[in-house]
Amino acid sequence: MAAETERSDNFRGAALPQILVWDLLVRIGHWLLVLFFFVAYLTEGDLLTIHSWAGYGVGVYVVIRVIWGFIGPKHARFADFAYGPAKAALYLKELILLQAKRYIGHSPTGGLMVYALLLSLTATTVTGMALLAVEENAGPFAPWLGGGAALKVTMPGPGLLAGASRASEDEDERDEDQDENDSEEKGEVLEEIHEFFSNLTLAFIIMHIAGVALASAVHNENLARAMVTGRKRLE
Ligand code: HEM
Repeated sequence: MAAETERSDNFRGAALPQILVWDLLVRIGHWLLVLFFFVAYLTEGDLLTIHSWAGYGVGVYVVIRVIWGFIGPKHARFADFAYGPAKAALYLKELILLQAKRYIGHSPTGGLMVYALLLSLTATTVTGMALLAVEENAGPFAPWLGGGAALKVTMPGPGLLAGASRASEDEDERDEDQDENDSEEKGEVLEEIHEFFSNLTLAFIIMHIAGVALASAVHNENLARAMVTGRKRLE
């Protein structure tokens, strides 16, 4: 498309025609995601408010990016990088052998990594919100998983017999202790799962950055800069 192409240099010195590949939403979304993820990762533990808001940022990014994957421009659409694991493995092998074919949009391995990142980010965000509800009775899942959900409705009895009412008070106390134990256990399990997914996401990110660096070297272009400008050389 003539309107989308222009001349500029890349890693190569010569001026080469360029094409707009990454739209504004993909680019701004990507760098906001990087910011949100690292803020959330680094504030885990002590700074719960900042951690939660950064986590919501990640969650909102994922929702918008998934919608964009169906209605966005060509290279943002999931259909543009739905190659499957066999092609992804082949591309990776060829990339390591420095023989990989160049793709204008996501490569098969890059595309698979986008799916892996989106899934892992979703699991991290959902388990984080569940944990916030169970431990702090806060966040969007609080009505279902928070302390309020565990409260039993205790009807005031007629109180005719003092002994009976004391027995029912003891029972209520035991129920409350049981609820507290259950919620503590639930919290511990959720914490493990949340931590597992955040570390899995970090592992994917390390592979993602290594893949971007390798593909940049093999195809002789700066892919990180393309995620800033949106442009790649045409051929
Ligand atoms: C700071 C180092 C990073 C660099 C240099 C970088 C670079 C890139 C590049 C160049 C692409 C396009 C890949 C392609 O050409 O196929 C991309 C896509 C992507 N990256 Fe990163 N990335 C970084 C960190 C991250 C982090 C921390 C995350 C996740 C938290 C992430 C998630 C993604 C996702 C989801 C896409 C797909 C974008 C889309 O299609 O909307 N990246 N990244």
